[in-house]
Amino acid sequence: MKKIIISSLLVCGALSLHADKINVIPKPVKLVEGEGYFVLSPTTVITYSKDLEKYAAYLQELIELSTGWELEISADRAKKGSIVLGVDRKIVKEKEGYQLEVTPKGVSIFGSDSAGVFYGIQTLLQLFPAEIYNKVVQKDIDWVAPSVLIEDAPTYSWRGMMLDVARYFYDKDFVKKYIDMMAMYKLNVLQFHLIDDSGWRLEIKKYPRLTEVGAWSGKEGNILGGFYTQEDIKEIVEYAALRHVEVIPEIAFPAHMLSAIVAYPWLSCTEKKHEVPTQHFISRDLLCLGKESSYTFLEDVLKETVELFPSKFIHIGGDEAVYTEWDKCPRCQAVKKEQGLKKTSELQGYLTNVVSDMMKKYDRTVVGWQEVAQRGKLKNKVVSVIWTNLEYAKDAMDKGHFAVLSPASYTYFDFPESRTPGEPKAATWMPPISVEKCYSLQASDYDQNSQLLGVQGCFWSDVFIHGTTLQEVDVLHENRSENYAEYLTFPRLLALSEVGWSVEADRNYEDFSNRLKYHFSKLDHKECHYRVPEPEIKRIKVEGDQVEFTLAESVAESEIRYTTDGSYPHNNSALYTDPVKIGDKVNFRAITIADHNLKSLPIYFKEEYSDYKKFGSLTAKWKPNLIQGKNYAPWKFECTGKIAGNGTYEITFIYTGGTHKLEIDGIQLLKRNELVAEDKHKGATGGQHVDNKYTIEVDSFEAGTPFFIEANVRGDIGNDSNGIVLIKKIK
Ligand code: ACM
Ligand code: ZN
Repeated sequence: MKKIIISSLLVCGALSLHADKINVIPKPVKLVEGEGYFVLSPTTVITYSKDLEKYAAYLQELIELSTGWELEISADRAKKGSIVLGVDRKIVKEKEGYQLEVTPKGVSIFGSDSAGVFYGIQTLLQLFPAEIYNKVVQKDIDWVAPSVLIEDAPTYSWRGMMLDVARYFYDKDFVKKYIDMMAMYKLNVLQFHLIDDSGWRLEIKKYPRLTEVGAWSGKEGNILGGFYTQEDIKEIVEYAALRHVEVIPEIAFPAHMLSAIVAYPWLSCTEKKHEVPTQHFISRDLLCLGKESSYTFLEDVLKETVELFPSKFIHIGGDEAVYTEWDKCPRCQAVKKEQGLKKTSELQGYLTNVVSDMMKKYDRTVVGWQEVAQRGKLKNKVVSVIWTNLEYAKDAMDKGHFAVLSPASYTYFDFPESRTPGEPKAATWMPPISVEKCYSLQASDYDQNSQLLGVQGCFWSDVFIHGTTLQEVDVLHENRSENYAEYLTFPRLLALSEVGWSVEADRNYEDFSNRLKYHFSKLDHKECHYRVPEPEIKRIKVEGDQVEFTLAESVAESEIRYTTDGSYPHNNSALYTDPVKIGDKVNFRAITIADHNLKSLPIYFKEEYSDYKKFGSLTAKWKPNLIQGKNYAPWKFECTGKIAGNGTYEITFIYTGGTHKLEIDGIQLLKRNELVAEDKHKGATGGQHVDNKYTIEVDSFEAGTPFFIEANVRGDIGNDSNGIVLIKKIK
């Protein structure tokens, strides 16, 4: 039930009003439900205390877009029937914290600071009907919010997303939308990945070729790319500031900067000329550390960068440098010698020290990928963004640095959510990351001495480098990188938001997914694309040769439609109401239909052993009780139907589990009991396969006659062996 129907005689006579259930994400620290509800009306006044006018105006504008009412905003706190915004450190002590009270009489939001007030507003918006997020006036909506008292503050101060605008250029409107969506879920750091081998996206006045040349790839007629002017950046930063999102520019070096080297070849050791790549590519070219011009370049670029970005932190990249060019470069080797460094990799630490000294002058702190804290001794504290092994967070903190957890296996949203056919291909170098997997990140396991600043998601765009030539996914309606970016980001960003904000001991996935159900309609009204979740599988019960599925909706007010013949469900497939029984779960498909055009991928069970399909069709399985250990003995199984005519057949034995391999001493093909063909060689299948394929010729096929294979087999020492036999006609 999405709506609680409240009849109120007090406020509205006989009218029935609907207040949405409370389903706030990220989960607040403390929430006490009250009686009744607050009704927004054209006469509601928003009052605010000193310095909060812009937040009052922000709320006023949002409400006006969806309700059509231009509410009065006033600094006069005495006004009645109000939404009151204030900063009060007596009521709320924690940084970024707030207290939100909703009663039939009014709403009050007190923050410990302006960020807290902003987050109180975000929570309030989540209490109203989802239509509140629409940019167009919505008719016939009861603009009510249930009474509640919420006291809330974040667990971590760094709740970030990295957006890779270098591999694929997203325009400033998309970046603003991304920031707005982050803010809706109380994320507060955007690591803005502006530079990579495939593109330089930041206008630097002193080095115009960075964007004249480095921002574009491809040949005439098919040129891709783009960049942000300094005016665009100011607009983005200002937009983010109101939403309490700190935009941290990432200026990548010494690797991942081929786009700059294309523009100014003197930046590299070899000074070789290149082109901006049109395919995903990690260049081995590095910034040369043996030339004065490299340091001048960094000084100049970073000076313009800090002038544009008021962020406390500046990210310097630092990942994935391979030091071959530095090894070969006499100038770099001279620096290594002069600095008394043992390993070439320590030159990266030297570079980090040079840059962090530059940043000190501007009172900024250096952030880098984990490698930055691993390449020689650093003079200044840095923030290390951990992206591979979480144990590296401890190493960085042991050295006195700060850490942010952005582990690829939990929070890289360029990986798909599943392996279901139809899922965007996206990144493939690791397994898919489900919403639940992302949610399962326990940051506190890596927390020590408050040096763990928080968590971060990453959205890499290297799979979108081809622009719009991406595979089609029905639910996206159109084939655009921006939509894919949103599809891959949502709803996982909501899980990330709770990992960063909510109290870890109070978090559990079932509770989260019950609240998540109600957020898809909010995302719809925000015009944000997302991956529609498959129906939730509540239970799979095996009874004899039947499997019973019990499902539940994972999107509020959606339908579940299913098929039991392996076909793709559609709008008119069977409507799920009660548990469904089926013989083979491989043939079960069920989808969420959020609305007519918005459907999930199906619940999908891969056919068992489908990885071995290339060896033919599955014919038999051996288990420990079917074979002997030590001594060879015959194992006979039927293969009628698999031998389907005269010809040459290949029979493959594949071990699938157990502690013992299977050894095979020849096979015979029998037509009833008559020997028709044989292959007598010895073979084995286990950790390795040795001659595990048998070839037989059939020239006396008779339709309707049963065929059998008798193999002479043993488990090499014992019989703890499992596996399958597949048959393929090869001629
Ligand atoms: C990274 O994924 N190379 C930070
Ligand atoms: Zn060099």
